Amino acid sequence: MAEKKLRLLTGDRPTGRLHLGHYVGSLENRVRLQHEYESFIFVADYHMLTTKLGGLSELNENVRGLVLGYLSVGIDPSVATIYLQSLVPEVAELHLIFSMLVTVPRLQRVPTLKEQMQTLHIDAASYGLLGYPVLQAADIELVRANVVPVGRDQASHLEVTREIVRRFNDLFGETLPEPDTLVGEVPVLVGLDGKNKMSKSLDNAIYLDDDPRTVEKKVMSMYTDPTRIHPTDPGHVEGNPVFIYHDAFNANKEEVEDLKTRYREGRVGDVEVKRKLARAINEFLEPIRQRRAEYERQPELVERILIEGSERAREEGLQTVRMVRDAMGLNYDFLRRESLSR
Ligand code: TRP
Repeated sequence: MAEKKLRLLTGDRPTGRLHLGHYVGSLENRVRLQHEYESFIFVADYHMLTTKLGGLSELNENVRGLVLGYLSVGIDPSVATIYLQSLVPEVAELHLIFSMLVTVPRLQRVPTLKEQMQTLHIDAASYGLLGYPVLQAADIELVRANVVPVGRDQASHLEVTREIVRRFNDLFGETLPEPDTLVGEVPVLVGLDGKNKMSKSLDNAIYLDDDPRTVEKKVMSMYTDPTRIHPTDPGHVEGNPVFIYHDAFNANKEEVEDLKTRYREGRVGDVEVKRKLARAINEFLEPIRQRRAEYERQPELVERILIEGSERAREEGLQTVRMVRDAMGLNYDFLRRESLSR
């Protein structure tokens, strides 16, 4: 008998457009993993609310954009389940139950809390922000996921999930799976400024849906080797963002090697290196743009993918909540359950 696939869950907050950093850091990995694992990929709109309650006029567009982004990079909705967190309200029930199984000081020690508060100038965390990792635990256990591919910054959240699961299983019997972090190397892509990681807030990103002209403009104004003034000066290839991108996105490896050699020897100008990079990135993005355009032409298909995915996730969520309530004795057999709507 074929072995049953392990289950994978991962998601993103709908806070903006997807860029090349997302591609390298997670999307590419998910596209590959969707065939190895039974995958659930979701839009974490509740999580977004922990730090963003204003300006929600962009929310619809961001959710739609994220789903289009998943589809455009090759997440296959006939293989993976794509869903919207708030369309599966069982996650909120699970979050409530889980919130009893972790202490406030434990959550206050989660490093991302302090980081978020600093970055966003929050002086007192809301109850919901403190509970961010608890909600994440609920996401993971909602579908009883076995593996969660996440970046280094999320490892502390996974630890909270594991602790909650262990506590639950200790108290109420083995019910929930303890998930593993899937730590592939999660490469961090440097931004166009060459200083920070690529991110929307730093305005140093190339977006997956940028048009060819925009990509070209962004690449031509990229930061390169500051020690190199003339094209005849020998240049530095290592750590140079232009070459980091060539390595990541230029399919023509011979061209990359040739450019590197000439750059080191001072036999090529930045303009040629950048022109070739812009062309390579545009070639890389072209199939992604095309797939996106195909889906954009069929909004009712995108809607159906998200609704059906959410219904599928909800089936799992209902089952999990039933298991959890049964384990806890929160099932009230004397109230005939058939008389309730679920
Ligand atoms: N916290 C994740 C992020 O900011 C998003 C997220 C929410 C998530 N719930 C999750 C990721 C569950 C993996 C599993 O990127």
